[in-house]
Amino acid sequence: MALKNINPTTTEAWTKLNAHYSEIKDTHLKELFKIDKNRKDNLSLNFSDLSVDISNNRINQKTIDLLIELAKESELDDAINKYFSGDIINSTEERAVLHTALRDFSEKEILVDGENVKLKIQSALNKIEQFSNKVISGNWKGFTEKPITDIVNIGIGGSDLGPDMIIEALKFYKNHLNTHFVSNVDGDHVSEIIKDLNPETTLFIIVSKTFTTQETLSNANTIKEWFLRSGSEKDIARHFAAVSTNLDAINQFGIDQENVFPMWNWVGGRFSLWSAVGISISLSIGFNNFKSLLNGASEMDIHFKETPFQQNIPVILSLISIWYNNFFNCETEAILPYSQYLKKLPDYLQQAIMESNGKSIDRNGDKIDYQTGAVIWGSTGTNMQHAFMQLVHQGTKLIPLDFIGFEESLYGLTEHHKKLMANFYGQMEALAYGKTKEEVHLDLKFQNNSDKITTLLPYKVFEGNKPSNAIIFKKLTPNSLGKLVAMYEHKLFVQGILWNIYSFDQFGVELGKELANKNYMQMN
Ligand code: F6P
Repeated sequence: MALKNINPTTTEAWTKLNAHYSEIKDTHLKELFKIDKNRKDNLSLNFSDLSVDISNNRINQKTIDLLIELAKESELDDAINKYFSGDIINSTEERAVLHTALRDFSEKEILVDGENVKLKIQSALNKIEQFSNKVISGNWKGFTEKPITDIVNIGIGGSDLGPDMIIEALKFYKNHLNTHFVSNVDGDHVSEIIKDLNPETTLFIIVSKTFTTQETLSNANTIKEWFLRSGSEKDIARHFAAVSTNLDAINQFGIDQENVFPMWNWVGGRFSLWSAVGISISLSIGFNNFKSLLNGASEMDIHFKETPFQQNIPVILSLISIWYNNFFNCETEAILPYSQYLKKLPDYLQQAIMESNGKSIDRNGDKIDYQTGAVIWGSTGTNMQHAFMQLVHQGTKLIPLDFIGFEESLYGLTEHHKKLMANFYGQMEALAYGKTKEEVHLDLKFQNNSDKITTLLPYKVFEGNKPSNAIIFKKLTPNSLGKLVAMYEHKLFVQGILWNIYSFDQFGVELGKELANKNYMQMN
């Protein structure tokens, strides 16, 4: 069954939230902490190895209650059931949305067109496991009988960003295989990647749901030509694999059927890293670690499906984000991981969130007159503190932030980790509390700068009252990363439901593609 069509601005909760916004909008976070002595405990959510502190937001219990009323009036429960059961909730493309089935290890059947997709998923996982084991162990040999040393993922968008981000994030768990990603149609990208590769020991994986994407096909053809300068047509079977729904096109490209991994229309590109699209992940960190990643996501799925909204992490994060987007009129949100391993997370989330929720037509086919998807950006702490944080602290824009951190580091170096987390908390505190005129005055006096007080004071004041979430896991593991990514997937899902849009199509990328093809034809 399709999703319900409910304009959020017509709900009673929306009207109440507008009135509540007028009451609370000027209240400083300092004030909110003063009123509620247990604010930190009251506004903390815990699940497994994850804790989320939402106390540094411009909210109180009433805000949460009203936002939950909005979720209920928008029939979020019904939408969550449809999402997990394989209903056709991607109505514009007439598809189910079942990336969650890829990591559902329960006995429950999930039917699409009367067929249990869990069987197909399990058989694909078995194939990924066997393939990964063979390549990692060195039993898979190249055309000169040498073992594989390098893996190249050829894909773009969802067929690139997810695996690339995960492999970077889980570098600590990596084996001897070197992984590379070619995505851009810019020929310099592919040239830089192949220049140091040995065709005898490199395995190329062409990942394209449609197998029609200009960038991926151009790169795949260029690489094939390069390969054929050393190997022969029959050697392609040992050096090329593919992941796609388009079996005819793969066949035409000349890839051995044995090396073809399936994709399905009920998995969107930007949610596909859990499928065979993640084969480079399994090759890089081993199948068991890939399975732990899926397990982590699965645990988050269960939390999201079964936890009441008040304690439901993706639901609450989503509602807080709607609060800023639609009531405070914030245009952007930043993702700030305090882990260098997560440097590609903001890029990955840009596609996941902005391709999903960058929509202006509602589920009734009407033009929307309220705000939908926020602009997502970000970078790692502490580097970004020396780059864009000036604007966040003292600029004119209100930017809600997600601070992501880990209690432990992976290599030890505990003093480094203490400093890292001291920065994490220091930034959040500075943003929330700021620094008053009086405090700056005192500082300048102590520094023997009394003569400069009148000229310097206003520049050194921090207004504070800048909101943020603290999202903290025990440690960066395949399992915790799975939970983190699934948490954001569900957050964006909830937002799409409440904004009354279709999150799972992406027609907005089509026109540019068409015109690029037309221009290219004219150039030749
Ligand atoms: O940019 C649009 C898009 O369709 C994305 O949604 C997708 O992840 C990407 O292109 C790549 O598509 P494909 O996997 O079909 O090559």
